[in-house]
Amino acid sequence: MPSADVTTIFYGPIINPISLTSYSALPRCLLAVDALGNVDWIVEDVAPYELQSTLAAKGKPDANVVDLKDGEFIIPGFIDTHTHAPQVPNMGTGGQYQLLDWLQTLTFPMEAKFEDIKFARSTYASVVKRTVNAGTTTCCYYGTLHLEATKILADIVHSLGQRAFVGKCNMNRESPSYYVEPSVDSSVNATRDLIAHIRALSQSSAAADQEPLVQPIITPRFAISCTDDLLMELGSLVSEDPSLRIQTHISENLSEIDFTLSLFPSASTYAGVYDSFGLLRSNTILAHAVHLSEDEIDLIKARGSGISHCPTSNFNLSSGVAPIGHYLDKGLKVGLGTDVAGGFNISILNAIQNASVAAKVCSFQARDSSTLQPAQQEFANKALSIPTLLYLATAGGAAVCGLENQVGSFAPGKSFDALLVSVREEAGNGGLWGLAGSLSSDVSEDERKKLLEGWLERFLFCGDDRNISRVYVQGRFIGGKAFRS
Ligand code: GUN
Ligand code: ZN
Repeated sequence: MPSADVTTIFYGPIINPISLTSYSALPRCLLAVDALGNVDWIVEDVAPYELQSTLAAKGKPDANVVDLKDGEFIIPGFIDTHTHAPQVPNMGTGGQYQLLDWLQTLTFPMEAKFEDIKFARSTYASVVKRTVNAGTTTCCYYGTLHLEATKILADIVHSLGQRAFVGKCNMNRESPSYYVEPSVDSSVNATRDLIAHIRALSQSSAAADQEPLVQPIITPRFAISCTDDLLMELGSLVSEDPSLRIQTHISENLSEIDFTLSLFPSASTYAGVYDSFGLLRSNTILAHAVHLSEDEIDLIKARGSGISHCPTSNFNLSSGVAPIGHYLDKGLKVGLGTDVAGGFNISILNAIQNASVAAKVCSFQARDSSTLQPAQQEFANKALSIPTLLYLATAGGAAVCGLENQVGSFAPGKSFDALLVSVREEAGNGGLWGLAGSLSSDVSEDERKKLLEGWLERFLFCGDDRNISRVYVQGRFIGGKAFRS
């Protein structure tokens, strides 16, 4: 396909994740977005006096350039690899429970309310706006077990322009009588209906060589809530279509693990249960993974599945501390998840902060990583660096979602899914700006990079949605503070 014409050119600081251990901090970057919303080209270091000649050399002498102000910078949009849209009304409650009691006492009663499609419509409209304005450009949503409400969730995501995977929960047992699917057939038929609905939504808008913004995802809630027959049917459904993503929970809580193994006596591990039904594959997203055995880690690595690290929820529901550094050393794909309302914050910024704390807690506990040579132990039992945290929230999440060629960092041909961040005084979070310094003074390139890195670190640790001025998905301005004002 010929490259579409450039529509927007940004000039200013950009931070681009490169790997788990590095990013490019580019204080004077020129980045062009084409009419399809993809990055067209990037020129990394353009001094102000070189701006016109660079534009001319790119064939754009009269381009309208978005000139970032001092204190503004661009990063890739955040990717939330695990959240529950219908649990948002419960956010901030329930921290006195552990998982299985919490589900019965608070979560299932709330989710049951989404049978009422008026309630679903008004709640989901506000939920999706909130996730967008928090800087989540790609979101993996669990709906409820209800087909109609989950269609509404997908419709709202589609109309607001967020990139997302939307799934309805499959759950036909070990759930209260008022909130359980009556049969395997009804669960699978509703799933097929949702897939068709979401694919029809997106067909009208996606360019031929792009994945649609909104996609279905198969969502067996967790092994406990699905009979063998249901898991078998879902395994058969996904085997028809290798592109279908799968999301579920794994090894979050010790009682959950015991209960799972009692329900599947022929499986030797929790991961083995999913694997035996063909549900562990390269586009499976496994949330939590707090208590995996080494055999399970090896199995997940062999299948290429990804981990959604949900540290806020793991702390809040007293589930434990996932040894993410160890998983990274073992080569697992890892992204971050808010897991609202196990987690109490809709923002991936909060997940970043708690991922940092979780890694430090892990380092105090010093898990035995003796299955790896010392040279292979780069992340385990250490604090996570800022490049690692940014990577997990962006490119790492993209890999977990099977979108690594499309989002998570900036490169020609990738989608422009981005946040325009402001640490300026008027952002309303003046503490950042007062501390962070200015790029406008005449300083060396090295000092400029250091200042920019300081802005990023302060934003990640004490920023909030007031610092997210603009949210772009596929080149389109869909949210952020500037959108609301
Ligand atoms: N396991 C099964 N369902 C859920 C859920 O809704 N939240 C969390 N955190 N774990 C689960
Ligand atoms: Zn969850």
